[in-house]
Amino acid sequence: MGLVSLSEVLEKANANGYAVGAFNFSNLEFLTGIIEAAVELESPIIVQTTEGAVNYAGMGLLIAMTKTAASSVKIPVALHLDHGKDMDVITAAIKSGYTGVMIDASDKPFSENLSITRRVVEQAHARGVSVEAELGRLMGQEDHIDVSERDAYLVDPDEAEKFARETGIDALAPAVGTAHGAFKYKGEACIDFERITRVKTDCGLPLVLHGASGVSEWIVAKAVRYGADLPGVKGVPDELVSRAIKAGVNKVNVDTDLRLAGLGALRQVLAEKPAEFDPRKLLGPVKSAVKEVVSQKINLFGSAGKGRT
Ligand code: G3H
Ligand code: 13P
Ligand code: ZN
Repeated sequence: MGLVSLSEVLEKANANGYAVGAFNFSNLEFLTGIIEAAVELESPIIVQTTEGAVNYAGMGLLIAMTKTAASSVKIPVALHLDHGKDMDVITAAIKSGYTGVMIDASDKPFSENLSITRRVVEQAHARGVSVEAELGRLMGQEDHIDVSERDAYLVDPDEAEKFARETGIDALAPAVGTAHGAFKYKGEACIDFERITRVKTDCGLPLVLHGASGVSEWIVAKAVRYGADLPGVKGVPDELVSRAIKAGVNKVNVDTDLRLAGLGALRQVLAEKPAEFDPRKLLGPVKSAVKEVVSQKINLFGSAGKGRT
C-alpha cells in the first residue's frame, strides 16, 4: 500500500472514537513483529522511531525497511518521528520519507514551544507530512510522579486551545499524568481524564497519550522468571488507557512494553538453549513476543478491523 500520512490514520480514528497504537522500533524484529500483528488484525498502524533509534540504525535504513514492509501489506502504515528535538533530524525526516514528525519543545517556555512548533508545521505541511507537538511535561525514564507536584507538569487546557489554533498542528500530546519507562508511579496509577476531555472539547484534535505502557504482570513475568532485575516496575492499567481513549485519545504510544516482552523472550531462549548461536533462533522469539503485545494493544485500543481496505 505504501506509507500513509499520520493525519490520515488519526483523522479516521478521531471521527470514529478509537485509537491507533504508535509503536517504537529500532530494528528488524520489532518492526516486523509490529506490522505482522497489525496485518493479522487488519488494523491501521503507526511505527515510530526516536532520535536515539535514528542514531542506532540510521534514518535511511529505518525508512527503507518501513517503506518496503508497508508496500507489501494492505493496511495503512504511518512512519513517525517520535520526540523530535533536533531540527536537523526533523528536517531530514520530513525530506526523506517520514509521514509524521513530533516536535517536542515541551521543555521550552510556552511562547517558544509555540513558535518552534509553528515553524515545523510550515516545513512539514509543505511536503504533506503531519505534525504532533507536546504541551506540559512528561516525566523522564527514571522520574516518578509525586502526586503533590503532579499538576504543575500537566497541560493547561487554556494554553492548549491557543497552541492548537496558532500552530496548525495535526495532533497534540497533552501531559495528563503518565510518564515514560517502566517506573511510572510511586503510588496508585492515575490519569487526569477531565483534563483530556477539556483539551479535546476545546481543540477537537486527535490527542496522543505518551507513556502508555501497561507494564502488566503477563509482560514482565517472563523477564523476571529468567533473571531480570526489575523491582518497583509500574505502568498504566488497561482500564485507564480505555478511559483515556473514551475521553479523546486517538494515538497511544507504546515502547516499554515491547522492550520488556522482547527481554523476556530473549532471556528465556538464552537460558533454555545455551548452545544456540543462530541469531534467527535467538531473535525470532523476540519478534513473536513483540507481535503478541501489539495484538493485545490493538484489541484494547479498538483499531482491529479499522485498516480494512
Ligand atoms: O519516548 C520514547 C522511548 O520510550 C524512549 O526511547 O530510548 O529510543 O529515546 P529512546
Ligand atoms: P512507554 O515508555 O510507556 O512505552 O511510552 C512510550 C512513549 O511515549 C514513546 O513516545
Ligand atoms: Zn513519548
